[in-house]
Amino acid sequence: MNRIQIDPSRTLGQISRHIFGGFAEHLGRCIYGGIYEPGSPLADDDGLRRDVLDALRRLSMPIMRYPGGNFVSGYRWLDGVGPRDERPTRVDLAWGALEPNTFGTNELIDFCRKIGTEPYLAVNCGDGDMREARDWVEYCNGTSETALVKLRRQHGYEAPHQVKYWGIGNEVDGHWQIGFKTAQEYARAATEFAKIMKWADPTIKIVASAVSLWEGDLVERAQLLLEQAGNKIDYMALHWYVGNAADDYDAYMATSELVEERLSSYEGLIRALRLDNQLQRPIHIAVDEWNVWYRTFRMDEPPLDQLEERYNLEDALVNAMQLNAFIRHARSVKMANIAQIVNVIAPIFTRPDGLFLQTIFFPFELYSRTCGDTALDVFWEGDTFSGGAYAGVRVLDVAATLRADANEIVVYVVNRGRMDAVETTLTLAEGAFAGPVDLHVVNGPDVKAENSFDAPDVVGTRGTTLQAEGRSLTVAFEPHSVNALVFRVG
Ligand code: AHR
Repeated sequence: MNRIQIDPSRTLGQISRHIFGGFAEHLGRCIYGGIYEPGSPLADDDGLRRDVLDALRRLSMPIMRYPGGNFVSGYRWLDGVGPRDERPTRVDLAWGALEPNTFGTNELIDFCRKIGTEPYLAVNCGDGDMREARDWVEYCNGTSETALVKLRRQHGYEAPHQVKYWGIGNEVDGHWQIGFKTAQEYARAATEFAKIMKWADPTIKIVASAVSLWEGDLVERAQLLLEQAGNKIDYMALHWYVGNAADDYDAYMATSELVEERLSSYEGLIRALRLDNQLQRPIHIAVDEWNVWYRTFRMDEPPLDQLEERYNLEDALVNAMQLNAFIRHARSVKMANIAQIVNVIAPIFTRPDGLFLQTIFFPFELYSRTCGDTALDVFWEGDTFSGGAYAGVRVLDVAATLRADANEIVVYVVNRGRMDAVETTLTLAEGAFAGPVDLHVVNGPDVKAENSFDAPDVVGTRGTTLQAEGRSLTVAFEPHSVNALVFRVG
């Protein structure tokens, strides 16, 4: 018997909308040919693809990380501002490409404003220095009559951009990174970068690069960072990519356990270090790169391919589980950025004459559109399976949210069962269903189903309404489906 119990009084914490963030890197066709394609009949006056903007609006991303990624560790932001025909073309060492710099800071800000998202800029802590980083803060946010503020005005932007979120470097723990740093080197660099960036604008929030490798020195890195920069940084950034390289469905479906392990360990680590260092201020987790990525994964030698991963339904299930985990860890995960947004390991896939929406678009859209503001501590039990290193994993993966002002509850259920529907009784610990329940389902014919230009609707979202009365409701969740039950409690 599968059952889910919802108690609206058992809250876990406020959900930050920033868990529905995105990430755009100068890489492959993410910017050029994705977001930005001047001269295309689909582009607006600023060269931004209108169809891409519309698709992105459906995802309601509140924050956008930019410009990398590995790219940022060799980036000079000054190359990307000012008259376009004077901007230099440079070699991008991270991805072995030529970077024309025709899209830069101000184009990104225009793009963000058009889709109602807040920019989150990462500074170069690879081959860049802290002067360059603080100058970027001043160029974006300054209001005094300085040369950099005048330069921004000269570039057509009288008002400051008010960029609040700033990351220091990218994946500095990875040997593939331009300017890879040891734990000690990064703790020192982050402390000094954060110090003078905050001198340029004391209101900014700093995201430190913490873990992407997940082996070896993650405890030491956190310890040194919090000991040295604990009173300057606001977020610790974690990155991960998951996948099904072994084509083992059960192991892939147990990815939820890996994500739980990582989040709960890191949460505990931050708590312990805050205690040890007597830090009163909160330090949050920003999972500022997460997604499925394994088919086009090569980090060894440039030139690398374009990372144009094509997603299937099982990837959409795994992404929904990651969103469930962010909700369940709402107390500590205050930002998460799906990597990336267009073409490059992305939910949106373009060609010159249009786009299609990949399978992973749909859970993201559903969660972003329906998620409440408070995470609930949901209890569920039922059938289990074994996959990879994990046994006793519940077939259903569940999270729930509350929107207190509307008395609205949303229960997210991923049914990982490949063949069978899972009949489940949902019970309210208090109150009763006040009216019908909207059930939104992301599904497709089988777990390997994909969308494409020729068949764009194989996987998508359907909606139905269920009648509910009293305190319990029984639902049969379809095999390999992502579900959102939306209802009010009276
Ligand atoms: O998102 C693609 C790449 O993955 C990013 O550039 C890097 O940060 C990560 O390794």
